[in-house]
Amino acid sequence: MAMTQDWIASAGQPLRGTLDIPGDKSVSHRAVMFAALADGTSTIDGFLEGEDTRATAAIFSRLGVRIETPSPSQRIVHGVGVDGLKAADGELDCGNAGTGMRLLAGLLAAQRFDSVLVGDASLSKRPMRRVTGPLSTMGARIDTDEGGLPPLRIHGGQSLTGIDYTLEVASAQVKSAVLLAGLYANGETVVREPHPTRDYTERMLKAFGVDIDFSPGFARLRGGQRLKATDIAVPADFSSAAFFLVAASIIPGSELRLRAVGLNPRRTGLLQALRLMGADITEENASEHGGEPVADLVVRYAPLRGIAVPEALVPDMIDEFPALFVAAAAAEGPTVVSGAAELRVKESDRLAAMANGLRTLGLRVDETPDGATIFPGELQGGAVDSHGDHRIAMAFSIAGQLAKGEVRVGDVANVATSFPNYDGLATGAGFALRKA
Ligand code: S3P
Repeated sequence: MAMTQDWIASAGQPLRGTLDIPGDKSVSHRAVMFAALADGTSTIDGFLEGEDTRATAAIFSRLGVRIETPSPSQRIVHGVGVDGLKAADGELDCGNAGTGMRLLAGLLAAQRFDSVLVGDASLSKRPMRRVTGPLSTMGARIDTDEGGLPPLRIHGGQSLTGIDYTLEVASAQVKSAVLLAGLYANGETVVREPHPTRDYTERMLKAFGVDIDFSPGFARLRGGQRLKATDIAVPADFSSAAFFLVAASIIPGSELRLRAVGLNPRRTGLLQALRLMGADITEENASEHGGEPVADLVVRYAPLRGIAVPEALVPDMIDEFPALFVAAAAAEGPTVVSGAAELRVKESDRLAAMANGLRTLGLRVDETPDGATIFPGELQGGAVDSHGDHRIAMAFSIAGQLAKGEVRVGDVANVATSFPNYDGLATGAGFALRKA
């Protein structure tokens, strides 16, 4: 039998202290990719030392890019130029990272050589037609497994043509894949979004000197441009901070300061949702970090009330629903989530994983195809399955802090994909959390 790594979470102390949250995952992936494609040498500070982003860096090393690690969370990337990547000597392993695989699909579809992108068990079940569809309209040739699943077998040497593409699902990954292919395409590439998603690709391409027009829900660039090396400072990841925002909000007596967290408005939907629920979160020391707004977030315990989460907030908090479900579990009155069907195709089916886990801990959760209603109540101990999903695991580690008995959280190793040393930081702040 395969051994999984589990946690035991139980009632801990009120949370106290000042925490430094690791670097943003989305920004770290893009920083290493664009630095690799640039002319010249770029330094990345605050790089996330997570398995996902390290997998992306390892892939670029295999594609012929020299990347140094002078100290943890720092990379020096010796860019090879947009035409300088070389064929790898085998499959490229994206690990657990949808961002890695989807952005690389756009980039590698435009190279002269063939590539094969593979991923772990979770990534191997995630839909790729959303990227292979528009990329093939541009002239790319990518074979998938049955049902549009990885591996992606990318046939290089195609000549790509720019498109004007309207996204079918709100997805920054799809937008970014099309824009990266567009960098190599003839003519202009335009991407339109039904609801604006995170715009790191657009902002960062501009920082690397690319002439790109963008506004919320719209991006346009011309093919044939080069990137100029630049230094990138990665802000702390709001999606990682989110677990502490929820934990301190629901554990009586807590007060935490989370330092210099990235507050890109396309990421901070949870902040708005928690404030609608009555959370006490203030922003201090606001500044800019590599072109991104950052601030310290000071969060104090406050009684929360259930809400209907406004659907307009969903894309801006798409990674934060596991945490939101736990806030809802501890609130007064039910919380309704709708318009969030995308959660079914994340690292796990997050609607089912959260609903099932909270039921195991004694709550009523009614699931719908695109959401759920969470009825709060007293959490009991029990064994919940994270389905190998980092954010489900972290969410249930918080639920355990309020439970009457021990909560065993199964299969937590993937927390390292996005949040190395989460358990160390959490226990330092007051969590009762140990390896089983
Ligand atoms: C990401 C986009 C989102 C998000 C993921 C990171 C990115 O995915 O869930 O964690 O870095 O572009 P989708 O594009 O699938 O919504």
